[in-house]
Amino acid sequence: MSAQLLDGTRIATAIKAEVATEVAALTAAGATPGLAVVLVGEDPASQVYTRNKVKTCHALGIHSEHLVFGAETTTEQLLAVVGELNERDDIDGILVQLPLPSQCDAKRVLLAVDPDKDVDGFHPINVGRLSTQRPGLVPCTPLGVMEILRRSNIAIEGQEAVVVGRSDIVGKPVAMLLTNGHATVTICHSRTRDLPGVCRRADIVIAAIGRTGMITPEFVKPGATVIDVGINRVSDRAEFERLFAGDARREAEFTTKGSTLCGDVHPSVAQVAGALTPVPGGVGPLTIAMLMVNTVTAARRRRGLS
Ligand code: GUN
Repeated sequence: MSAQLLDGTRIATAIKAEVATEVAALTAAGATPGLAVVLVGEDPASQVYTRNKVKTCHALGIHSEHLVFGAETTTEQLLAVVGELNERDDIDGILVQLPLPSQCDAKRVLLAVDPDKDVDGFHPINVGRLSTQRPGLVPCTPLGVMEILRRSNIAIEGQEAVVVGRSDIVGKPVAMLLTNGHATVTICHSRTRDLPGVCRRADIVIAAIGRTGMITPEFVKPGATVIDVGINRVSDRAEFERLFAGDARREAEFTTKGSTLCGDVHPSVAQVAGALTPVPGGVGPLTIAMLMVNTVTAARRRRGLS
């Protein structure tokens, strides 16, 4: 038996089509949603991510601005930028791409974003709203994980969920969303005793550790759902062999490009799991789709629409 693959690209396409319809209705009412994407420095991955966010906005009819600043930008200068965006009525969402250069105090900058424009859901006010089940803005990747589960008809209520990874951006918020969805949730991390044994209890495993192929079949109860949040680039031949030996399609990709992408879940987990998100094409596409959803949510709330 091989796991059902949960197609994140297909789900993201459906969500974006729904967003485009909502944006058209808001625009017809003279209320086009607007997103500002702030990039500081020249990190190549961040350049790609922010460009894709702005491009997706344009494709869906959302007004978007890409604000790019030099690597030497100070915290004070960024605080001024965020302050201006907070005041602008045509901007509903503000996203400050992380990581910021080391001289910038990221916590101070994120704290300055108006919580009602915080489409990343990183502001402590929104963290508090999520944990107390008040309306707010929720981080995009955790929201995307929940949409994959929901749209794949995977039960959450009463299920055992194990989240591997305790980051503020993924692990903690996804654990909170699963808890709010009435799952029984365990959060694991690098110091958890008998991690494979704890994971084997789970009906749903969320892998968000950032360690390539760490979740092997011994971590997974037969038939469990495994959601792989990791995106790791594999360029070492020995590591490639540990992960993809015998996979002709990956071999061809590795040979031509010199690398391939792998999640935190070892590909052999597909032989044990009941359902599994692929990498690429699983959780990744949902992150941008949910950013679009959050931008429309922020726009509607700021205008007093439900
Ligand atoms: N860097 C990597 N992922 C993210 C994200 O979801 N939001 C922001 N702002 N920066 C990131």
